[in-house]
Amino acid sequence: MVKIVIENMGQKEVTGKAGTLALRLLHENFVDWMHACGGKGRCTTCKMIIVNGTDSLGTLTDVEARYRSVGELAVTERLACQTKILGDCTVRTPAEYKLPHQTYTD
Ligand code: FES
Repeated sequence: MVKIVIENMGQKEVTGKAGTLALRLLHENFVDWMHACGGKGRCTTCKMIIVNGTDSLGTLTDVEARYRSVGELAVTERLACQTKILGDCTVRTPAEYKLPHQTYTD
């Protein structure tokens, strides 16, 4: 079992099976997270800011590496639809991809 803490959603904790993609894990726990392209790696709206637990994430995918190489994915950011969660981590929702109906605490 792994855990994602969403810092700017009141430290909300979601849990699931190790190796699950972050976006799926969020959805399995009924957390709405922006994913405009439907998780196909074509939009970057599913960005997560990694606060801690970088070592608990699967390796950067080719899709993420491409976005990083053109400056659209910072070293502190990962795509939820691409990133496997292998251990506990803490993330934040980027300001530009907050959902209007979701409650944030920052
Ligand atoms: S949902 Fe579009 S890149 Fe992740």
